[in-house]
Amino acid sequence: MPGCRCARRRRSAVDARRRPWCGWGRPARRAGPRRRGIRMKLFALSDLHVGYAENRWAIERMTPRPSDWLILAGDLGETEQHLIYVLETLGPRFKRLVWTPGNHELYTMPSERGGPRGQARYERLVELCRSRGVLTPEDPYVLWDGEGGPHVLAPMFLLYDYSFRPDGVPERDAVAWAMESGVLCSDEELLDPAPYASRPEWCRARLAATEARLGAIEGRPTVLINHFPLREELVRLQHIPRFSIWCGTRRTHDWHTRFRARVVVSGHLHIPRTDWIDGVRFEEVSFGYPRQRPVERSADSCLREILPGPAGAAPPRM
Ligand SMILES: [Fe+2]
Ligand SMILES: [Fe+2]
Repeated sequence: MPGCRCARRRRSAVDARRRPWCGWGRPARRAGPRRRGIRMKLFALSDLHVGYAENRWAIERMTPRPSDWLILAGDLGETEQHLIYVLETLGPRFKRLVWTPGNHELYTMPSERGGPRGQARYERLVELCRSRGVLTPEDPYVLWDGEGGPHVLAPMFLLYDYSFRPDGVPERDAVAWAMESGVLCSDEELLDPAPYASRPEWCRARLAATEARLGAIEGRPTVLINHFPLREELVRLQHIPRFSIWCGTRRTHDWHTRFRARVVVSGHLHIPRTDWIDGVRFEEVSFGYPRQRPVERSADSCLREILPGPAGAAPPRM
């Protein structure tokens, strides 16, 4: 009987059995039913760096795609206002946004001195996203059942641990090793790891928590989303090779196969490109600083289609 409590309870038990489980003891939320006649695509973009007026100009001109989802893979800006600006500019143009933080979002800028730092700042940004319906690394993973699905979408916040360095350089000497080549990342001054003693220690805590969640996903293929690249060989920094220590962790070397990734999305390098490793598509999706691209390049043209993926997307034949 439609209004009966027993009937409602029976229906929800059936629903629960049909829904996939993705850790935290709760079923993953679906990305929304594939509506007949509407083709829902998943796009990604990162490193919008909206502190630059040229970048704000570009994203304000992005074409609305009300049926599609957009992954924002970090470094949208440096302040809370930057994050809010991006979410409120792009939120109405897409069906849903998925966010993961970059190092720049976690900076404590002089204008926000006295505000939350480190983990507390991250939690504040997560709340800003959630209050606008944006998915974060702290939410249950969702099941994408738009075009190219079903795939579990896993936004992650993993940071780096200085392990992208030569084997002979101990972790405690990694920053000095980079500085010998004249390179020092602003993170050393602006990215407070509190309450952790260091950024590598924060990274290790993030790795442990994320690994447990990913390990609880049963069977489904995934899209792994992280600001920093998951593999060291993807860090090709011709002019500043020792900047690599601020670019990721060797601990994620095999995550794309261990956790059944079809696509791995990252940013941070400001070198947009596609790589194939072990049959998995790795997408670097940076928009980057204005000086790093032709003036006429639009943000629309930098959007990367993650799912279903570009026509003919397949690993190159060897
Ligand atoms: Fe960036
Ligand atoms: Fe970054």
